Amino acid sequence: MRRKSSKRSEKVCIIGAGPVGLAWGRALNRIGCKISCVISRKLSHAKRLAKDVGAAEASNRIEKCCGSTIVLLCVPDHAIKEVSDQLLNVHFTSSRVVVAHCSGSRSSVLLESLKSNTSAVLSVASAHPMQTFPRKLMYTDTWDPIRDICFGLEGDIAAKTRLRNLIKALHCRSITISPDSKALYHMGGVIVSNFLHANYHAARKLYKGIGINASQTRLVLGPILFETLRNILSNPSSIMLTGPASRGDHKLLGLQSSEIKKALPTYQRAFVALTAYCRLLSEETR
Ligand SMILES: NC(=O)c1ccc[n+]([C@@H]2O[C@H](COP(=O)([O-])OP(=O)(O)OC[C@H]3O[C@@H](n4cnc5c(N)ncnc54)[C@H](OP(=O)(O)O)[C@@H]3O)[C@@H](O)[C@H]2O)c1
Repeated sequence: MRRKSSKRSEKVCIIGAGPVGLAWGRALNRIGCKISCVISRKLSHAKRLAKDVGAAEASNRIEKCCGSTIVLLCVPDHAIKEVSDQLLNVHFTSSRVVVAHCSGSRSSVLLESLKSNTSAVLSVASAHPMQTFPRKLMYTDTWDPIRDICFGLEGDIAAKTRLRNLIKALHCRSITISPDSKALYHMGGVIVSNFLHANYHAARKLYKGIGINASQTRLVLGPILFETLRNILSNPSSIMLTGPASRGDHKLLGLQSSEIKKALPTYQRAFVALTAYCRLLSEETR
């Protein structure tokens, strides 16, 4: 007998009607997975998300997740423990339930106490989508950022197996992270995503100071940004790095350091630190 695929057998409840909850919902809805319920603090937010992703029910009452087989906590990190404590009193109707949160830096230990809920065999995990989900893009038509991404999975074997199957059904990938490694794993995303924003913002401010506006900045820096991303993903940076640090042009670097001190003092320490890092990188090839 063929086993039902996870997209048909699981009933997923999304708790937290923010960008991550919406992204999960749109991805699950796209593959035809049943979203049994959306729960959020504000009923209006739960209703809007439920309507968008074709969920059967919307509520602001936590016990409404009782008919689900997978409960995804898409609430801020600081609210995970509080929501987990509320789930302790839910009487689940399914015998085996997975509860997972989506934090990149916190482990599933936060959910451990849930296992004293005796209404079902509960397994817990963290399933972190390595992606960026800006609130500003919520409810824009084509926004569907859980595509071809990788999830960091950590937790009980039973929970990881069920989540891995769901993630595969979404045509995404997963890797297993140990609880002790979560902080560093998460930092990888912070460095490539958040710091890239910080660097672009600094470049934009420098350009503003010399009369280049935001759309001109995009025109000037867009192509080098995309080409750099292609290079980063194709070969080690020690080989692909260009610019004054890789050429060992100390005179120019000194000049740039004093210029940045005048033009953008808030970025100067970052500039010096990143320059030193680039020099180390280029020394790897020598
Ligand atoms: N944002 C990202 O780029 C990103 C990327 C990867 C992973 N994550 C992780 O994904 C999780 C959710 O992130 P997010 O950015 O979507 O979170 P968020 O926007 O900060 O919050 C999501 C929603 O959670 C609801 N909420 C807050 N406290 C609640 C509570 N006590 N009970 C029930 N609902 C509550 C709020 O709903 P109401 O609007 O109804 O008040 C809020 O809109 C976090 O663990 C985060 O670390 C985020």
